[in-house]
Amino acid sequence: MDLKNKEYIDKIKKLAKEKNAVIFAHYYTRPEIQECADFIGDSLALAQQATHVRANILVMCGVHFMGETMKILCPDKKVLIPDMNAGCSLADSCKAEELAAFKAQHPDHMVVSYVNTSAEVKALTDVVVTSSNAKKIVDQLPADAKIIFGPDHNLGSYINSVTGRHMLLWDGACHVHSRFSLEALLQLKKENPGVEVLAHPECKAPILAQSDVIGSTKALLEHTIKSPAKRFIIATESGILHEMQKACPEKEFIPVPPEVTEGVGCSCNECEYMRMNTLDKLYNCLLNEYPEMNVPKETAIKAVSSIQRMLEMS
Ligand code: 13P
Ligand code: SF4
Repeated sequence: MDLKNKEYIDKIKKLAKEKNAVIFAHYYTRPEIQECADFIGDSLALAQQATHVRANILVMCGVHFMGETMKILCPDKKVLIPDMNAGCSLADSCKAEELAAFKAQHPDHMVVSYVNTSAEVKALTDVVVTSSNAKKIVDQLPADAKIIFGPDHNLGSYINSVTGRHMLLWDGACHVHSRFSLEALLQLKKENPGVEVLAHPECKAPILAQSDVIGSTKALLEHTIKSPAKRFIIATESGILHEMQKACPEKEFIPVPPEVTEGVGCSCNECEYMRMNTLDKLYNCLLNEYPEMNVPKETAIKAVSSIQRMLEMS
């Protein structure tokens, strides 16, 4: 960590304290943002923690839907997010109007939505899930329930495979997790025989089929901490490596690279939306208490029950 960043982080922490603000960060944010945070976590942990915090101001360093979820759960708090444009390709792959039309075609189905969705989609949902609790929650639904699962097709297929359900899957995907290269993974396995592969369930089925541990960011992190192994191959957004390396400085983490498409795309496995959270934006957002997340009351009232149901069933 360079001195300039260290000073900036201290300044941000001091300002947060003065304002009685609590900073939350997802594991995929930049390392220096994670260093500012009071709580670092996956989508489930961040939502759970938000409901237990007393502070007046909550700052969510993540992406838009995470700020929305926080505001829906904590309507009386001021929820700030450093960049309102930090979206999510997965959430964007399911528009509320399209889901409403699909539901109308399947009136006997209940809707299970991944947390990576807009507040409007959550308002059309019976129960929200995250990658941490999707299996546990789907397992608790009535055995004969007909289910629409969205928007992540890869996670949905994985949950179908581990629960034996036949949920109808939405055709959405995360552009980061769906672009990991199978060829590169096979090569890494060949070069590192016996090294465990850890993957997020948003990855495509062929990547998951080559993985030893499949889980949310938190589950993967916990596995690296408790496992006696010294080296791991990681197929998820590379921001998590910061926390893994911090927790296990003596271990080695080998990231799986994405497919390189001729002339297009990013040659890294970073989520550009998560990286939109910078120290400058975090500082200014705390200082000006802007941009502030707001969710229309009617939407929030409908969305909160599907999120609450998730928290109860987790
Ligand atoms: P989790 O935080 O549930 O592991 O989800 C990962 C993700 O893609 C967040 O955007
Ligand atoms: Fe969305 Fe994928 Fe980025 Fe997560 S990593 S915020 S799912 S685009």
